Amino acid sequence: MADRITDVGGTAVPVALDVTDRAAVNAAAEQIADQLGAVDLVFNNAGVQLISAIEDVKFDDWQRQIDLNISGVVNVIGAFVPQLIGAAAGGKPADLITTSSIAATRVLEKFSVYSGTKAYISQLTRLLRVELGRKMVRVYTIEPGMVDAELPVHVTDPDASNLMADLISDIDVLTAADVAETVAFIASVPRHVNLTEITILPTQQAV
Ligand SMILES: NC(=O)c1ccc[n+]([C@@H]2O[C@H](COP(=O)([O-])OP(=O)(O)OC[C@H]3O[C@@H](n4cnc5c(N)ncnc54)[C@H](OP(=O)(O)O)[C@@H]3O)[C@@H](O)[C@H]2O)c1
Repeated sequence: MADRITDVGGTAVPVALDVTDRAAVNAAAEQIADQLGAVDLVFNNAGVQLISAIEDVKFDDWQRQIDLNISGVVNVIGAFVPQLIGAAAGGKPADLITTSSIAATRVLEKFSVYSGTKAYISQLTRLLRVELGRKMVRVYTIEPGMVDAELPVHVTDPDASNLMADLISDIDVLTAADVAETVAFIASVPRHVNLTEITILPTQQAV
């Protein structure tokens, strides 16, 4: 990806890290600021979906989702918020975008722990707007429906895997590019405009 960016004249600083490692995220935030200047847009996107029946009691899967979708998300927020506030104080648009999901609000069988993590993100974002909005940092969530990505690959429950695989083959689902273009759009509007919560569904997805 870094090559694709530099090939078209952009600048990229790839930093491989585990967002559940708070020290690594803080170090990355410093490294990026040193090399590129204060960050003015954070797309907080890493997440994992490990859906299963609650009675299967998959503690390890529950914990992985909580560690990445909650702790990882707040680690990234903590590492970059000072830079975003600084960028906004300097008059730039400053954006903190976190990927939630339609699962944050929908009632979907076997999604309980995953949906709980996404509901946490959506509500956290609403609360952050109270403090960061007045500092001119735009905070928002993207809540996609079905996107053709590697997310279903990690699901171990066969019913849940089949459900997602069927959806991907039956309808024209979203692509990563659709999500990226949405992020680019919401970041491009004037800095006094905050689109707050964007739900993106494939046109043929009903729920
Ligand atoms: N696909 C969907 O239908 C859908 C719908 C709604 C919401 N979402 C959300 O969209 C986001 C992206 O998921 P995706 O669908 O694109 O799935 P994906 O293809 O599995 O991508 C997950 C991304 O998270 C990164 N990641 C995973 N664990 C990480 C860690 N510990 N530290 C740093 N990065 C980590 C992965 O990096 P590596 O590749 O390097 O492992 C990858 O870039 C997630 O928050 C997911 O919950 C997806």
